[in-house]
Amino acid sequence: MWNDTKITRQLGMRYPIIQAPMAGGLSTPQLVAAVSNCGGLGFLGAGYMKPPAIREAVQEIRQLTKFPFGVNLFIPPKRNNTVDMSAVNSMKQHLSSLKNIPHEIGKEILELSLNTSQIDFSDQLSIIVEEHVPIFSFTFGTLPSQDIENLKSRNIHVMGTATTVAEALALEMAGVSAVVVQGAEAGGHRGSFLESDDSSLVGLMALVPQVVDQLKIPVIASGGIMDGRGIAAALALGASGVQMGTAFIPSRECGAHPQYKEAVLKSHGQKNVLTSAFSGKPARIIQNTFAVSMQQYQGSLPPYPLQNALTTPIRNWAAKHTLPDFMSLWAGQASPLSRESGAADLMVALIEETSKALESFR
Ligand SMILES: Cc1cc2nc3c(=O)[nH]c(=O)nc-3n(C[C@H](O)[C@H](O)[C@H](O)COP(=O)(O)O)c2cc1C
Repeated sequence: MWNDTKITRQLGMRYPIIQAPMAGGLSTPQLVAAVSNCGGLGFLGAGYMKPPAIREAVQEIRQLTKFPFGVNLFIPPKRNNTVDMSAVNSMKQHLSSLKNIPHEIGKEILELSLNTSQIDFSDQLSIIVEEHVPIFSFTFGTLPSQDIENLKSRNIHVMGTATTVAEALALEMAGVSAVVVQGAEAGGHRGSFLESDDSSLVGLMALVPQVVDQLKIPVIASGGIMDGRGIAAALALGASGVQMGTAFIPSRECGAHPQYKEAVLKSHGQKNVLTSAFSGKPARIIQNTFAVSMQQYQGSLPPYPLQNALTTPIRNWAAKHTLPDFMSLWAGQASPLSRESGAADLMVALIEETSKALESFR
């Protein structure tokens, strides 16, 4: 059966379908549990969460499902003590004087103190260990082999994110149990960490078979997979499973703003672009007014997480007042294939479609 793969055996799920971790409150405990209860693997995106909030969410997931689930964290950027304050100040000026931004939001941006080191990665990681989370994944970098071995010795499966063959090899060498390969189509932030972002934009169709040929551990394909056809294609390329983000955004259980869900569902004909405008790190979005207004700054933006902190007041204001033109509408290139559905119904459809797509080749 197609659903019996290296990754389903390794992680103990029935179908090789992983709901992508989506930080920022999108992958709610309800979404994670709904996917795991259907035989897939739900994943909590905890990159922006403080340790007590991670613990609470993990405990809530455990109340909602008895099946395996995962938690994902962001590898912190290397400390750069030489922050270019002139770039920060000019960005503050630009953001605070943007057309339509209310005076009080502009004032909040100008007065930001930019203490971006409030969440400590090692404290976040301690929760994974203490709560004995069954599966842990990370993005934006790699972990020292010692940390990976420590997690694995506690029976915690560890997965890393790669956007190139070189990154996948580096992760395998570091000792991860499986690699998530992120194609250029993928929604949200790029996970690249070895090479420049430009040279790490490899399409999933090109990337998966190259990584599969080089690695011994299971490979999970992610980026632009929205239905059973995509899942069947990824399996045909040699992937042991798929990780899907955008497909789950419109689902009832997803914590995305209703206007964001609507924007994903109605993204036919909309421009889908890579931009660092929201966070200082390249991410794929549905283009909106804010992204266009920031085009002149591409290349000279304060780096992640500074830019992320600078744009937070605008994004909070946009969410409060339902203004999708100023929200971060993270979405993959295949978002026009999204559908309105509960997570469980989507899982049932994905499983049926994959079976049908694979049978059609017989
Ligand atoms: C809204 C959103 C948030 C995301 N947040 C995370 C995250 O916190 N951690 C992570 O490893 N990947 C994150 N990703 C990337 C996904 O893991 C995955 O690579 C991507 O969703 C695949 O492309 P697709 O959206 O076309 O399915 C995010 C993606 C989206 C769309």
